Amino acid sequence: MSNYPVDMSVTPDVKAFFDPDTNTISYVVKDPGSNACAIVDSVMDIDYAAGRITYGHADEIIAWITANGLKLEWIIETHVHADHLSAAPYIQGKLGGKIGIGDKIMVVQNTFGKIFNEGTEFQRDGSQFDALFKDGDSYQIGGMTAFAIYTPGHTPACMVHVMGNAAFVGDTLFMPDGGSARADFPGGDAGVLYDSIQKVLTLPDDMRLFMCHDYGPNGRDIQWETTVGDEKTHNIHVGGGKTRDDFIKFRTERDKQLGMPRLIIPSLQVNMRAGEVPTDKDGRPMLKVPVNGL
Ligand SMILES: [Fe+2]
Repeated sequence: MSNYPVDMSVTPDVKAFFDPDTNTISYVVKDPGSNACAIVDSVMDIDYAAGRITYGHADEIIAWITANGLKLEWIIETHVHADHLSAAPYIQGKLGGKIGIGDKIMVVQNTFGKIFNEGTEFQRDGSQFDALFKDGDSYQIGGMTAFAIYTPGHTPACMVHVMGNAAFVGDTLFMPDGGSARADFPGGDAGVLYDSIQKVLTLPDDMRLFMCHDYGPNGRDIQWETTVGDEKTHNIHVGGGKTRDDFIKFRTERDKQLGMPRLIIPSLQVNMRAGEVPTDKDGRPMLKVPVNGL
């Protein structure tokens, strides 16, 4: 981890917004030294049965940023989510900021460009995003330096974003009693996910970790914040010295039992376009369903 610019002396303010429809947690992260902020993993609301998209959740975040007089500099996607739609372009239209994701988005765009039979107008070079991060790339949020770490496994383009003493883990890890995310989507790999988790766990023990999802296992209240030290000791899938082989065996068997996320079909089409809804030949917003394609 020594090659990454870790700086535990910087403590950003982290405000969480929980979306009960998809169990996603979005974050506004504020530079302690200025009014600059970033959003991590926003949510656009969809009533899929009705084909209706709304922005109540995003508007709540926008209102909070505005009320606090903050300047939005970055809209970060930890990965191409399969269970909710990103509101990044909507938020950018209201508040500005650059939309950033890992450069392995190109792999994801190639995979799902084929599955959704997208034409040549769908670019597979990540150009829908304003910034594509490689492992260790840093960027500024006001005076605070943030950086991104490659953490593939759940998807090829997953990255953990570290901002001062706070890390946003996406779907690399869940809370200790939730374990880890599935690794069976196209491009996913349980062994690679294990290796990525180990990399995250080499961050300092008191690094704050913020989850993208929580499902309140065993009836507990929703939680989203833990630490590297806690995950190392208590994570039910990787903590307490569980081996790579243990993890691969467990994860593979578990994933076979999981159904597809309710919103995977619209989520992938929108999120691989940086949150833009695709349009048909007449320019109308339109989503596809590849029959037996996933
Ligand atoms: Fe995900």
